[in-house]
Amino acid sequence: MEAKLSVNINKIALIRNSRGANFPNLLTFAKDCEEFGAEGITVHPRPDERHITYADIPQLMEIVTTEFNIEGYPNRKFLDMVVANKPHQCTLVPDLPDALTSDNGWDTITHKAFLIDTIAELQEEGIRVSLFINPDNALLDGAVETKTDRIEFYTGPFAHDFHAHKEKAIEEYTSAALHCNKLGLGINAGHDLNLKNLNYFKNNIPGLLEVSIGHALVVDSLYYGLKNTIQMYQNELKR
Ligand code: PXP
Repeated sequence: MEAKLSVNINKIALIRNSRGANFPNLLTFAKDCEEFGAEGITVHPRPDERHITYADIPQLMEIVTTEFNIEGYPNRKFLDMVVANKPHQCTLVPDLPDALTSDNGWDTITHKAFLIDTIAELQEEGIRVSLFINPDNALLDGAVETKTDRIEFYTGPFAHDFHAHKEKAIEEYTSAALHCNKLGLGINAGHDLNLKNLNYFKNNIPGLLEVSIGHALVVDSLYYGLKNTIQMYQNELKR
């Protein structure tokens, strides 16, 4: 089974917003990602809408033909928007409103009751749910009790430690992935994955279903072009 590549297009919205006009066009960029081989589009609207705006979401829903994944902290405004748009997947992230980027997974034990209610609300609308999480067996046991469909491993620490000691950096992720396989939790992953660390991550995570990649992919596309870059990421996922 091959892991799918979902491209996080937040950074394109950030560039667009920096000039106040519709350039680059987010919808064209999403369509081009799909045409060049992306199997999903991810957006992460933050409360200040500094990159993806709430107004972008229905327009993207209309044109995305692969898998559409909306990430974010599940406050009431976010949940109403997700339910109104019905993406294929919603990834719940425990971000503080002013977070620069996601930097931690859910404490599925402390927040179990909240997650159970939130996940049920989304699943009743036919939306698959994934929980952003650190690779920790106790937290994964907690995740199963929330009835989430999948988890998304927060791969920031893996990416950080990869250069110094990749065998050590992957260890807890592999062991947590095996635990997910036993528990029947689907596995996604994201954050700081790039052309150097992606193949090693994928080959050491049994059952990896999907990766969402934004920052490095957009930066790489400045050098290699979007089409080449998406194909390069796909090559890393396939070899
Ligand atoms: N997954 C989550 C939950 C995120 O918040 C982000 C960043 O928006 C990503 C994945 C993608 O991370 P990166 O931009 O480092 O590839």
